[in-house]
Amino acid sequence: MLEKFVIKGCKRLKGKVRISGAKNSALPLLAASILSDEGLILENVPDVADVRTMLKALELLGVKYNFDRDKNRIEIDSSSVKPVEIPYDIIRRMRASVLLMGPLLARFKKAYVYTPGGCAIGARPIDLHIEAFKKLGADYKVKEGYSILKTKKLKGNFIYFDKVTVTGTENVIMASVFAEGETVIENAAIEPEVVDLCNCLVKMGANIEGIGTKSLKIEGVKRLKKISHKVIPDRIEAGTFIIAAAVTNGKVEIENVNPSHLDSFLSKVKDAGVNLEVKENVILVKGTSTINPVDIETSPYPGFPTDLQAQFMVLMLKADGVSHIKENIFENRFQHVQELIRLGADIKLDGNTAIVKGGNPLTGADVMATDLRASASLVLAGLFAKGVTKVHRIYHLDRGYESFEEKLKKLGAAIKREGD
Ligand code: EPZ
Repeated sequence: MLEKFVIKGCKRLKGKVRISGAKNSALPLLAASILSDEGLILENVPDVADVRTMLKALELLGVKYNFDRDKNRIEIDSSSVKPVEIPYDIIRRMRASVLLMGPLLARFKKAYVYTPGGCAIGARPIDLHIEAFKKLGADYKVKEGYSILKTKKLKGNFIYFDKVTVTGTENVIMASVFAEGETVIENAAIEPEVVDLCNCLVKMGANIEGIGTKSLKIEGVKRLKKISHKVIPDRIEAGTFIIAAAVTNGKVEIENVNPSHLDSFLSKVKDAGVNLEVKENVILVKGTSTINPVDIETSPYPGFPTDLQAQFMVLMLKADGVSHIKENIFENRFQHVQELIRLGADIKLDGNTAIVKGGNPLTGADVMATDLRASASLVLAGLFAKGVTKVHRIYHLDRGYESFEEKLKKLGAAIKREGD
């Protein structure tokens, strides 16, 4: 059933919010569970739609699991996994199911995963994943929509990614953990979620060197054992709440964060004049009267994260001047711009740069979510628009934010979920 958020603007947010585990870490970690013939225990797993979709895919493969939602803890038994097809219905809900290719190939020497299509933010091909699998000795073909990978034996090789790819790096790391000999991955993604996956795999018994650098060395091992691993905090959710506090001139304590995962974002938010206090695993946002215009451009970690571009744009709507926001990662990640204009924003697009003229007062209106982070930015705008803002199709948001409206309500926002 389609649902919407109804938000009454202009409430200053106050209080504490606890950040959930990172969706983009939980997904590769769940996929990695089938690399062990025993299983995996994950703590701090966010209860979001994408995690539930990945669990459905694992169940299709024969995985048994218990998800204790109150404790955000999942215990997985992967002793009876079979490499059956991952169908269109799973892939259409969540393209990150491609993360099952690497583990299936590694453990069963074959993978049948429906080929992902494009999505709202771009074509998002997986050519770099496939090229890397071929380098490890896999044969690849597409048949009736399925991407079919097969191999007699995976052998370590030298792999260079022309472009930094987060799930591409994760997929190839997982494919290479049992490969014969050494695999080197150059120009690897170094996002905290990639590091979290590597740390978990090493605890399971994998042999990975260079973790956190762009050059990884993986020596194949025989098998991986069952261990327990805690998912890192979600840096994108943390950034979203920092902006929510800043745009409402609020006073919010954001707990269970790892500030070192947000360096570039925090420095831009400080440049914008947001009053922040950064502690070990808490970030305090203390009231912000005037916002300065700040130019940003997205780039792979440790650069400014593309997943916080839409949210930062909303902060710039309050700036007293013009800012330039350049999106370098995805070719179509400005879907939120047209919706923000409906609220009264003055934004012009020039290729992959958005020119944001801040200072226009926003008035509430009906707007439509198009992708996960764009929908979060529409909620943020609704928090300070005059009157009522209705954000439609919030299933996009439910994919990656756990108890979003409950957390905002606890901070004093006037937000409620209704049928559409
Ligand atoms: C991951 O997507 C994240 N998803 C995305 O988060 C995030 O926006 C993205 O990384 C960039 O940080 C997960 O981790 C589940 P890429 P991914 O491969 O891995 C091109 C969210 O909001 N490319 O790093 O799919 C691609 O088109 C989501 O939580 C190829 O050309 O992104 C893009 O332009 C949205 N060929 C660029 O590289 C390939 O084979 C970076 O994509 C792979 C990627």
